[in-house]
Order: sequence, then C-alpha cells, then structure tokens
Amino acid sequence: MTLGEVLRGAADYLAARAVPSARLDAELLLARGLGLERIELYTQHDRPLTGAERDAVRELVRRRGAREPLAYILGDWDFRRLTLKTDPRALVPRPETEVLVERCLALLDGSEAPRVLDVGTGTGAIALAVKSERPGAVVTATDRSVDALELARENAAGLGLEVAFLEADLVDGVTGTFDLVASNPPYVDAAELDGLEPEVRDWEPRAALVDEGQTRRLLADVRTVLDGYLVLEVHEGRASETAAALTAAGYREVRVTPDLAGRDRIVEGRWTPSSGA
Ligand SMILES: C[S@@+](CC[C@H](N)C(=O)[O-])C[C@H]1O[C@@H](n2cnc3c(N)ncnc32)[C@H](O)[C@@H]1O
Repeated sequence: MTLGEVLRGAADYLAARAVPSARLDAELLLARGLGLERIELYTQHDRPLTGAERDAVRELVRRRGAREPLAYILGDWDFRRLTLKTDPRALVPRPETEVLVERCLALLDGSEAPRVLDVGTGTGAIALAVKSERPGAVVTATDRSVDALELARENAAGLGLEVAFLEADLVDGVTGTFDLVASNPPYVDAAELDGLEPEVRDWEPRAALVDEGQTRRLLADVRTVLDGYLVLEVHEGRASETAAALTAAGYREVRVTPDLAGRDRIVEGRWTPSSGA
C-alpha cells in the first residue's frame, strides 16, 4: 500500500469512530509514526510503506480510534511558545488557557521580577509559559496531584525553566507574597461529565476536571499570599458569577476577558491586603 492509501484508510477509520478532525489527526499521527513532516505525506504520497512502517502507524491510529487524546498519543503538545510533554498524568493544556497567560503577561507588564504563583499547575503550562515569556519572574506552582507535579517537573527540566513546584491543596502551606496568582482550577460539574467528549471523560484525570469548590475556596484562601492580581479560568457559564464573587470579596479592577471563541472565560481581580474587605 502507498502512503496516500494508508492515510486515506486512517482518516476513514477515525471518521467512522466519530473522531473530530479525523483527516488532520490521521495526518499528524502518520507524520509522527513515519518521522516525516506533514508536507512530506504529500510529496511521498505514492511511496509504498514497509511492513514496519505500517505497523508503527496502525498502533497510533488504533489508539486514536479508541478516542485517546491526540496529545497523549503524540506525547507532546504546543502551548504558546513551548512544546510540553503530555500524558495521562495531567490535563492537556487548552487554547483558552493561552488567553489566561496573555492576561497574566499584560498585568505583569513593567515589573522586573514579579512573584507569580500557578495553582493547580497540571503539565506546568501556565507557570512555564509565564517563566519563558517573562524570564525575570520568580515562579512557584502547586498541585494536589503528585503525578501532575512529576510531569510538570519533567517539563521544566526539559525546557530548562526554573519553577518551584510544591505539592499543596490550593495554597495551603505556601508562604510569601505574590504579585500575581493564576489558576485554571477544575470547573466541570460532576453531572456534566457524562456528556463530555470521550477524550475528556474517559482519559483526562478526573481530579483535573471535576469542580469540588476549588474556585470558591481559592478566592478566599489566596488572600493570605496575594498582593496583586488573581487571574482565573472559569466555566463558560460562570464568568459573571465569579466576577461578582470577586467584587463581593473585596477585589478591585474586576474584569472578564473572552477566549478566542468569544466565550467569557478569564476573570481577574486585584487584591490589596490593606484595602480589602
Ligand atoms: C483544569 S486542570 C489545569 C491544569 C493546568 N493548569 C492547565 O491549565 O492546563 C486543574 C489542575 O488542578 C489540580 N487540582 C485540583 N484540585 C486541586 C487542589 N485542591 N489543590 C491543588 N491543585 C488542585 C489538578 O490536579 C489539575 O492538575
């Protein structure tokens, strides 16, 4: 069989299993399995594949057909300027979280060595992106998941970025004062879980998804370590209630920013210890 025939077969196989963007995923998996650039799938379209090449590709496509996230199969995923290692130890970083980082960087503009805390760091995406784009920042990151922290540390080491990682329930035990605290806490209602895509529901860590009141708790608890901005990613239906909760708790400069799809997802507020409620 030629490369072109295998590519078409893989795309059809994934489409039959309702994989979103089946053709694109087939291209990415074949390119990775064959060690090619995507463009080479087309320049080598008529080349027959060896048995070993077909075996390598078949296993990757089979996994995707079982609705395993593409990022877990590839083992890496782009997030802003970084390529992060990704596997089932942590949530796959999402494009809306890149918008959260954008807000953080805008709020940090002008500070030479801001102290930044990322709560619930997962792969380390937020902490590592902030550190790479503001090298002067002193960045700490927490997670309650030992597995996620292990992956985040591997990412930091692989990228040569210095971030202090701590195992903590939100900010419990965290000391010092931060100019900015960022968090993308779990925000899916347990009742919503069954309706999610299999990639999320069946593969990503439940502890990274299901809301157990972390956002509500963080608004209150973070005030012990914050003298500056809290920047949160929230459920698309909860931006205005989160903004209202921040205002009620004494945060100022409360602002909601939409993600790239126009959904209100990022909520921020400024906490000044001396003037807070
Ligand atoms: C939605 S994921 C976000 C991961 C990463 N920050 C990102 O944006 O891709 C939420 C993360 O918060 C962590 N988490 C959940 N509850 C926590 C808690 N009480 N304290 C600290 N981390 C928590 C989970 O283990 C998970 O890594």
